[in-house]
Amino acid sequence: MRKYSRIIGTGGYLPEKVMTNHDISEKVDTTDAWIYERTGIRTRRIAADHETSSSMAEIAAREALDAANLDADDIDLIITATSTPDRIFPSTACLLQQRLGIRNCAAFDVQAACSGFIYGLSIADQFIRAGNANYVLVVGSEINSRLLDWSDRTTCILFGDGAGAVLLKVSKEPGILSTHIHSDGKYQDLLYVPNPYGQRAREEAPYLVMSGNDVFKVAVNTLGRIVDETLAANGMEKTDIDWLVPHQANTRIIAATARKLQMSMDHVIVTIENQGNTSSASVPLALNEAVRDGRILPGQVVLMEAFGGGFVWGSALVQY
Ligand code: COA
Repeated sequence: MRKYSRIIGTGGYLPEKVMTNHDISEKVDTTDAWIYERTGIRTRRIAADHETSSSMAEIAAREALDAANLDADDIDLIITATSTPDRIFPSTACLLQQRLGIRNCAAFDVQAACSGFIYGLSIADQFIRAGNANYVLVVGSEINSRLLDWSDRTTCILFGDGAGAVLLKVSKEPGILSTHIHSDGKYQDLLYVPNPYGQRAREEAPYLVMSGNDVFKVAVNTLGRIVDETLAANGMEKTDIDWLVPHQANTRIIAATARKLQMSMDHVIVTIENQGNTSSASVPLALNEAVRDGRILPGQVVLMEAFGGGFVWGSALVQY
């Protein structure tokens, strides 16, 4: 019997504190108009001091468990995508496991920057199709606000905090139709965060560094190619896709991918305006929003994609 992974529940969490473009314009030389026009962002959420990636992941995961009507004990594997782990080790997935009150299942983190959730989904799908897991929890959770230099107007305007989760279950019916993941380390210096414990410890402050314009150009081209690759792998046409759930980095990047799919923006889930770029949380947060508000319906074909520091990029095609 052929096995597939089906998404049986989604969840999300956004911290309470809202930071507007106006708030940022009090810290650095920028305006609401500039930020909105260039990025599509108006507000983003900022985690409170007591919050961590694992605490936010727990809230999103519990919401997904409720939606799936599943007991946490049934989970075989937890994959957490994060670039902002609570601790260097143990993994945020282990801390989440403890928070969910479960033991013995496997738990590990995936570090693939903004593509972490797509990477996690791809790994989860391999486990399920190989018959090694029946229920997998995949979470993207990020506190990007702690990686930012709040005096750098070219980066601090872009990011926000949050967590999104999905629960996958083995099934005879699709489900995830295919996943595609790639990386190219030659771009490592265009978007990165130095590790204070790593090789650059004494040379650089531990804040996010980005060549925004270069990232923009490579992202648009690369996402165009992953759309073609995903459609070809499934023998599908652009018109077979009901919804695009993109990583939320910049509305102009999202619109370019929609154009590539000849898809109207009415069929693209866009959350960036009030969330900013939540890195690995952005795709599951957008998916959760569109499932809960009834836009994404059972049976529809959903294309998720992401691009991030590495560079790393990927897609997942899902029959919902
Ligand atoms: N407010 C006002 N002006 C700003 C500014 C800000 N927050 N940030 C940069 N500028 C200025 C620059 O200094 C520059 O001025 P100059 O022409 O006098 O030198 C000008 O605006 C244009 O800068 P540029 O970097 O070319 O702008 P851009 O149109 O490329 O937009 C980004 C900048 C960051 C919004 C855009 O490049 C982007 O979104 N890149 C992708 C980033 C991304 O997605 N990262 C995450 C990937 S997962």
